[in-house]
Amino acid sequence: MLAFNTFEAIFNTVVCPGDAFARQYFPELAVHMFRKYQIAATFRPRSIVEFGVRAGYSGWALSKGATDTGVVPTYVGFDSDIDQNGPVFVSHARKIISTVAGAVEIRQADTRKLVPADIPKADLVHVDADHSYAGALHEISIASGAASPGGVVVSDDFDYMLDVRRAVLDFLSANPRWFAMHVESWRGEAILVKPR
Ligand SMILES: C[S@@+](CC[C@H](N)C(=O)[O-])C[C@H]1O[C@@H](n2cnc3c(N)ncnc32)[C@H](O)[C@@H]1O
Repeated sequence: MLAFNTFEAIFNTVVCPGDAFARQYFPELAVHMFRKYQIAATFRPRSIVEFGVRAGYSGWALSKGATDTGVVPTYVGFDSDIDQNGPVFVSHARKIISTVAGAVEIRQADTRKLVPADIPKADLVHVDADHSYAGALHEISIASGAASPGGVVVSDDFDYMLDVRRAVLDFLSANPRWFAMHVESWRGEAILVKPR
């Protein structure tokens, strides 16, 4: 059943207790999660790949959006910063995503070094790690190869980071059969649908 948590419940049960950033940017962060939830509830992915896990908020929201429509997804996340954020964020991410996904795997990797063979196929790939132009374009490119036909690549920060916006638009210019939608959110979502 589609039922997103109240923002108060998200604050109390999804946000990592030691996450000062999340506390500072609440409730905007909850709006961000709600949009991810709606996107996954619309596309109903059976498998989710994410570049940029941090404490697992978007991974949780995307997985819950699919699960609430009756499709329990698998989740594979990539993040380079696992040591710097400490095991706290990774174990928090694993814990919250596991409540709404089937198998959950978080791999420590720098997306700049990933090649297409490293990425499992997925119905939805969420791009939210390297926000430089070259980094975002590389992530979108390998995400596009991993996405299943009819699947989606979701890019965060489309309205917030000019380099990300430029990377999305350049990808679309080079791949005109991909269908694109823009969804307003805290920092803007670009939804890119892979042709069948
Ligand atoms: C904006 S946060 C992700 C937030 C998360 N998607 C969410 O919405 O809750 C970006 C994450 O990407 C990671 N990151 C940044 N550059 C990266 C890179 N080149 N390779 C892998 N991870 C990277 C950082 O460690 C950080 O955890």
